[in-house]
Amino acid sequence: MNVGQIFKLAIEIGVKNDFRSKMHIQKQLKRVKDKYDKLTKEQKEVFDTEKLTNPYSDTRIHFDNGIDKIKKIMVGIDIDSADLMVARYLSNHNPKETIDLVINHHPIGRALTDLGDVMHLQADVLSQYGVPINIAESLMKLRISEVSRGVNPINSFKVIDTARMLDLSLINIHTPADNLVAQFVKKKIEKDKPEYVGDVLKSLLEIPEYKEAAKMGFGPVLFTGAEDNRVGKIAFTEITGGTDGSPKIYEKMAAAGIGTVISMHQSEEHRKEAEKAHINVVIAGHISSDSIGMNLFLDLLEKKGIKILSASGLIRHSRNKKQKK
Ligand SMILES: [Fe+2]
Ligand SMILES: [Fe+2]
Repeated sequence: MNVGQIFKLAIEIGVKNDFRSKMHIQKQLKRVKDKYDKLTKEQKEVFDTEKLTNPYSDTRIHFDNGIDKIKKIMVGIDIDSADLMVARYLSNHNPKETIDLVINHHPIGRALTDLGDVMHLQADVLSQYGVPINIAESLMKLRISEVSRGVNPINSFKVIDTARMLDLSLINIHTPADNLVAQFVKKKIEKDKPEYVGDVLKSLLEIPEYKEAAKMGFGPVLFTGAEDNRVGKIAFTEITGGTDGSPKIYEKMAAAGIGTVISMHQSEEHRKEAEKAHINVVIAGHISSDSIGMNLFLDLLEKKGIKILSASGLIRHSRNKKQKK
């Protein structure tokens, strides 16, 4: 596979595991195209045409050195210039094990400046749990503009410059991987049917990445509520969709009948608002959840014979191993 084919597979798997329907995603792309067609020549010159085909603005190819057959990749959660130097060092040291591509999880470059775009997904997921779409959209809009202002001053192309200088292909896969972990965790919890909040924690700990994280001191943890509380309706609204949504959403979620939220991570402000709304918040874990999403995708590449070197916090666990032996 080449870089483009790996990237295409990531987008496809992201759409397949998206909480929104494929038709909804295609409709959104069509709306972008219609808006693009109406732009002036000058506006089109600065328009990011990637948005015409890729529904995940936080997932991109940053540098492709044109390599045709990728045999080995380095994958991390927060790849930086130092990690790229390690990739180049290892490749020079052992040319038979050259790293042909580096895959990062979190957005960098244009994927970071456009992080806000994927957050619309959260409004759709919230509406599936009974929060009226007008409320979800309006709160999300405010939060999206806040996130856009927040990422605005960041030197987001720094690591991409390094990749170019080291001639290392670099892509990042964010929301498609987060969609994978969101569906995976949802399926597991819904299968286990927890009655109490403590049962949710137990169920999560059965997932290898969370168990590994627990050993490292950042396993699943309860941020609000109590283990003896009944779970009520469980929402999986804080695993995919860019980053933290609006802290004002919790009272609306409670009104929609949600009792427990399973989240990747949560700020103190969000936690306080959830507590006020009597919602139990189970924090599954940030880097561990991101690892699950990446692992589920990496397993597909591994099946195609690509070797994986984990770096930058990725807790690698292959679900292919059993089949191999
Ligand atoms: Fe993530
Ligand atoms: Fe993350």
